[in-house]
Amino acid sequence: MPGTTPTSELRRRWRASALPELRGVVLDLGAGSGIAADHLASGVAWLALEPRRSIEPALRARLERRSGSRLLTAPAEAIPLESGSVDAVIASTVLCSVRDPARALDEVRRVLRPGGRLVFFEHVAGERGSWTSVLQAVYAPLSRLIDHGCDPHRDTAASIRAAGFASVEVKRMLTPGVLGTVEPLIEGVAVA
Ligand SMILES: C[S@@+](CC[C@H](N)C(=O)[O-])C[C@H]1O[C@@H](n2cnc3c(N)ncnc32)[C@H](O)[C@@H]1O
Repeated sequence: MPGTTPTSELRRRWRASALPELRGVVLDLGAGSGIAADHLASGVAWLALEPRRSIEPALRARLERRSGSRLLTAPAEAIPLESGSVDAVIASTVLCSVRDPARALDEVRRVLRPGGRLVFFEHVAGERGSWTSVLQAVYAPLSRLIDHGCDPHRDTAASIRAAGFASVEVKRMLTPGVLGTVEPLIEGVAVA
């Protein structure tokens, strides 16, 4: 049975609990409008990685407001940072959108210092054979076309577990979806 809390509220709660505790150099993968920055501690050096060249005005404004922040116009599959140079990485509904999740996760692990953390909140594929999974598979090509490459039918928890992190903690949640589906979500932490 899915819970009744909508995805937006679960994501808001995740941001409010997972992001304020990050310290040092924090890479925000697929930063979008940069909303994650609103939850980061004041001393954090925020690196907003966003491959879209036409970045949103909201992201520009947030970059201007936070000293020590930097825009990286690059994809997650080729992060323009030194190995071991980052204390934490944020992935919030972005591993659904990257072209190559395995490569992106290799890059995340490369740029994290030993003991550094990937904190994530992602929507993922429904159980194999479920109505949700069938509809996600049908909808995926259109979704990829119209929604920044977003593929709703990915087993992102499996990709994170296969990426070679020292430890991975994943919590899975279900929220109500459209047309009788559920929206499966994961949140968690992977330590490099
Ligand atoms: C659904 S938005 C999420 C934005 C933000 N992380 C948030 O939580 O609001 C997905 C973002 O991933 C970005 N994106 C797409 N492909 C990407 C890639 N290969 N590498 C990094 N970011 C990518 C998109 O441009 C978009 O800004």
